[in-house]
Amino acid sequence: MKLNKIFGALSIFTIAAIGLTGCGEDPQANSNTLKVGSTIDFAPFEFQDEKQTDYQGFDMDLIRAIGKEMGKEVQISNIGFDGLIPALQAKNIDVVISGMTITDERKENVLFSDPYYQSGLQIVVRSDETSINSFEDLKGKSLAVQIGTSSSNEAKKIENATVKELNTPADCFIELQNKGADAVINDRPVNDYAIKEGGITGLKALPERLTAEDYGIAMAKDNVELQKQVNDALKKIRDNGEYDKIFEKWFGGQVPQAQPESQPESQAQQ
Ligand code: ARG
Repeated sequence: MKLNKIFGALSIFTIAAIGLTGCGEDPQANSNTLKVGSTIDFAPFEFQDEKQTDYQGFDMDLIRAIGKEMGKEVQISNIGFDGLIPALQAKNIDVVISGMTITDERKENVLFSDPYYQSGLQIVVRSDETSINSFEDLKGKSLAVQIGTSSSNEAKKIENATVKELNTPADCFIELQNKGADAVINDRPVNDYAIKEGGITGLKALPERLTAEDYGIAMAKDNVELQKQVNDALKKIRDNGEYDKIFEKWFGGQVPQAQPESQPESQAQQ
């Protein structure tokens, strides 16, 4: 008898729970969800640890903090880098946070938040490489880059270079290790992490920084209201110290002083 009551109570609870989940599917309730797209291959910004199921990284913590500030539940989907902007345009997702550089070309198709991280591109070669010491030396070489990225754009500008566009930075590093390419161009913090903590062996990053780039959160071109909400939330977490905590967690140091976006390397603060 007692047991029956418990089961009875349980099933009512279960039905209620299913009912609630069901509500989540109607478009009205969905406005409480911030649908985020990211390419989960870019440690320490977005990656999946073998031991953990949740997506991790600086961007992941940042967007969760922004979502919380906006009172929205954050739902993150893993999408190939060249599919992120099309997914925004198709309104399958609301925002992209994916170490995405704010560029004029992208601004023709999407809106960006205020910059949230200062980055830049850098060359990676095999540890025993002696003939590639700077950007100049890349002429006529074979270069591996992630498809759809600013690295890919830079690589295509290099005279007589063969550009191999691969799906992930990890694919690029493997191509380089296997001598399928002479160099990789990729974002500096990601190279640093891969070499120091990501178990990528036999490769070294060159000290030269090719570009200064700012990362921004992207939204569909007509989503001006959302852009404002994201910027307000970003400002709040910068003001209340949450941003600093997240920065410290992933980069272990102080946040560098804010810089205007994408200025030439010669003027950028190191
Ligand atoms: N910052 C570069 C760009 O915007 C590369 C970003 C790649 N992001 C990623 N999650 N794989 O083009």
